Amino acid sequence: MDSRARHILALERRGLLRGALGLSALAAIQPAAAQAPAPGPGLGFRRWPFTLGVASGEPAPDGVVIWTRLAPEPLAPLGGMPAAAMEVGWEVAEDPRFVRIVQRGTALARPELGFSLHVEVAGLAPARPYWYRFRAGREASPVGRTRTAPAPDAAPARLRLVNAGCQHLEHGFFTAWRHVAEEEELDLVFHYGDYIYEYRGVQPGQPSWGPAVRTHEGDEIHTLDDYRRRYAQYRLDPDLAAAHAAHPFLVSFDDHEVDNNWAGMISEEDGGARFPVAVPPEVFALRMQAAFQAWWEHMPLGRDALPRGPAIAAHRRIPWGRLADIHVLDTRQYRDDQPCGDGVVRPCDAVARPEAQMLGAAQERWLLDGMASSGATWQVLAQQVVLMRREFPGGTLSMDKWDAYPAARTRLLAGIRERNVTGAVVLSGDVHNAWAGDVRLDPTDERSPVVATEFVASSISSGGDGSEANANTPEILRRNPHLRFFNNRRGYCLHDATAERMEVTFRALPHVTRAGAPREDRGRFVVEAGKPGVQQGG
Ligand SMILES: [Fe+2]
Repeated sequence: MDSRARHILALERRGLLRGALGLSALAAIQPAAAQAPAPGPGLGFRRWPFTLGVASGEPAPDGVVIWTRLAPEPLAPLGGMPAAAMEVGWEVAEDPRFVRIVQRGTALARPELGFSLHVEVAGLAPARPYWYRFRAGREASPVGRTRTAPAPDAAPARLRLVNAGCQHLEHGFFTAWRHVAEEEELDLVFHYGDYIYEYRGVQPGQPSWGPAVRTHEGDEIHTLDDYRRRYAQYRLDPDLAAAHAAHPFLVSFDDHEVDNNWAGMISEEDGGARFPVAVPPEVFALRMQAAFQAWWEHMPLGRDALPRGPAIAAHRRIPWGRLADIHVLDTRQYRDDQPCGDGVVRPCDAVARPEAQMLGAAQERWLLDGMASSGATWQVLAQQVVLMRREFPGGTLSMDKWDAYPAARTRLLAGIRERNVTGAVVLSGDVHNAWAGDVRLDPTDERSPVVATEFVASSISSGGDGSEANANTPEILRRNPHLRFFNNRRGYCLHDATAERMEVTFRALPHVTRAGAPREDRGRFVVEAGKPGVQQGG
């Protein structure tokens, strides 16, 4: 089977062709302000260039970033575009039919950036929905819906957000994203990371991809072209595309956007017992640069987040009026290396090192200062790896989590307590199951004060169908009395905050290896404003 036939079959498999044909009706929209040059004869594309959909993100009171990428052949180098810049029109309207268009313009899709577009729309009104679309040549994109943040001095009635991540394309269907797309009155989605897994996925000669085809996981990706192709595979998924088109995203990254368990400038191949041949940091830096560029190209991010060499500015603060400040953290770039290897082990002496860094000194100060001066009811720490202590049978801890950086955790928690910050809610993921718990200043002392509340979202698909519990769950909950909830189904976490309380619902799916799973709730909890700690919800 040639690559085109393979591509078409794969599109059919994941339902994209149906979507694309339906959307071609949108081609009747008015031409964009500028008549852009296009590949092929005249202004037409030989194939529809919006195969990767649309997205929005970084909501502010007066604007939002809208995103697309031209890719008529999404799995080909440069998405099948000729290597010349192309002007693309965009429009933002107050209604889904684009009767009341409030902004329009053109932007340049450049080959250097994989023909991605990141339009920083400004001049919008706060706290309301908008609809957007793009036009290239004669082709129109799908319509996306987004929402601006409340004005800085406003007291919004609520903030309703989803925390989700860990989407292994080969482990299951992205049905959870379809359910996210259909969540009502959602303000935004926080994606904590593991948006891709750094494996090739589709192997040459394979007829398709998806849960039926397990990836050969040892075969990692390294180059910009590799990472671009991987993001394109993901964005062809109709459920993920629907979630992006339905809600603005606030995106972060964890390890698999670059390399499993990377830390600072240190690759997983770190010269330790599992990988005796280390990748030198200056070589790993080139891989980081490629990975960050591809991540930026495919995410609804602004120019501020453009990578500079192997570094990217990803921690930032999104205010939600006087109700909440969302602090998006970066727990990968500035951490020191995992102290006793990357695995789940009995802690070695190095775990207790006083100089442990998870956020790095500058981000740690930025976070604590930001929380202290905020004044908002909720301080949402939107981050990646589990903050709470999770002691496993045999007294082991996972070295890739905050558990391997206890000095850094204590500095953060003591800083929260010293500043009288009472609304800290920690969002995390990474472990492919759902947890809720009380974050105590000293996690080994049940009398120690609770200074924050943590909710760990399960994975979208990583790990396959899962189960309600594991054989060792009772023992883990017994060893860690601050852990109040565990579930091992796939899904995501819904947070609904008002000035009085935050309701948290763990959305779960009974299966992901077959399509079409219903949405089922597994656990509802409440946090009262000013009183950190998990309470049972109704
Ligand atoms: Fe993951």
